[in-house]
Amino acid sequence: MMPLTIAIDGPVGAGKSTISDEVARRLGILHLDTGAMYRAVGLCALEEKIDPQDAEKVSALLTEGRAQVDVRYEGGAQITLLNGRDVTGLIRSQEVGQAASTVSRYPAVRKMLVRRQQELAQTQPMLLDGRDIGTVVLKDATVKIYLTASAEARAKRRMLQLREKGDDTPFETVLQEVNARDYQDMHRAVDPLRRAEDAVLVDSSELSFDQTVSAILSLVEAKK
Ligand code: DC
Repeated sequence: MMPLTIAIDGPVGAGKSTISDEVARRLGILHLDTGAMYRAVGLCALEEKIDPQDAEKVSALLTEGRAQVDVRYEGGAQITLLNGRDVTGLIRSQEVGQAASTVSRYPAVRKMLVRRQQELAQTQPMLLDGRDIGTVVLKDATVKIYLTASAEARAKRRMLQLREKGDDTPFETVLQEVNARDYQDMHRAVDPLRRAEDAVLVDSSELSFDQTVSAILSLVEAKK
């Protein structure tokens, strides 16, 4: 029998990562943050002084084995590896996020990362979050969720996170960044972000963190 798989897709700032972490923890299964893998490729390009817009050079990093991305787990937490080096902390910057969004357009990048994600989910029950989990990576996932919130709600949450780090980027700027990333993720030619037909829509605009987690856990219970 296929192990339990949960696919959570949605736009930037919908809270996918933190919500997914908590849902996986409550279910006692591993959470694979696939965005971290694209971020590792973005970081690799930046470190190698390759322009993320340069499709050929970025793709060569993958096909020549110079950007080997993998994950391992320590006490249930994901450690993201780039050529064997722990880059978990380094990939969280805004700059790396933007580079990730750009390099994620290239088929060579997607092919390599999707294959690894599928391998990981074959061997153990897992929750994967990303943009194309329900549509490409795990077309037969046990449960598919499309987690979203209005652009304003997402920008507001992001702004509060930034404030905590002492960054006071104005709301309007954060909103513009959210909209720009949505556009880029939804309009790329290869596997754009979209809701799978069989994915359940969860709109967290008016929901607290706990309410969102509970809503997803109920959907999983209903399907198991
Ligand atoms: O979720 P995130 O911000 O860490 O993702 C970074 C970028 O990676 C995002 O802008 C689009 C890309 N991505 C993707 O194309 N497919 C995924 N499954 C996950 C992320």
